[in-house]
Amino acid sequence: MSSLPRVVVLLSGGGTNLQALIDSAATSELGAQLVGVISNRPAAFGLERAAKAGIATRLLDHTAFDSREAFDTALMAEIDQFQPDIVVLAGFMRILTPAFTEHYLGKMLNIHPSLLPKFQGLHTHQRAIDAGDNCHGVTVHFVTAELDGGPAAIQAIVPIEQQDDAASLAQRVQVQEHIIYPMAVNWLASGRLRYQAGKAWLDGSPLPVQGFQIDSRL
Ligand code: GRF
Repeated sequence: MSSLPRVVVLLSGGGTNLQALIDSAATSELGAQLVGVISNRPAAFGLERAAKAGIATRLLDHTAFDSREAFDTALMAEIDQFQPDIVVLAGFMRILTPAFTEHYLGKMLNIHPSLLPKFQGLHTHQRAIDAGDNCHGVTVHFVTAELDGGPAAIQAIVPIEQQDDAASLAQRVQVQEHIIYPMAVNWLASGRLRYQAGKAWLDGSPLPVQGFQIDSRL
């Protein structure tokens, strides 16, 4: 059995970010092994992607639970059965309880489609266009109790073109998502990226609030 760090991915939908991780693991670039994929939605296509790649899948339907706490407790038990070193949220559309985020503090990453701290929450592409911004992007960050609020590891900047609508912008942002998420997971798996004292650190130095930045315009 591989001794690479063990990664569990949580998702709710299509799973293109999971696919990017699967592809990166297949070439050994990821430096980590994907040991389990858990969805809270039965129809999530990401489950099929995982099964096709030979990764164990679990479905934990949140509608079967009475409370957020009960769901998160059951989810922690499912995740921990895989004995993960890293937990990756890849389009996991759930608000997490503090007990959950605390349990995985420093080893759980999320990807959020905006240049955090701008546009936490939903509909980020439309909000960036409506704000008249000339650039937008995506952030991978450590997960803390604050929704989309944990310290950033890496961010990719994407220009907003005059003719962009939310869909076209989202498409270009996703291209960058699929580049930066495997990078961030690789950094965390190799120990280059760490969470310490409320900050993200790369190669022994604290990162700025926006994390390591990649500018897709360059
Ligand atoms: C991505 O846009 C990600 O930024 C957001 O949810 C979406 C997931 O997409 N958190 P996919 O399921 O990985 O295709």
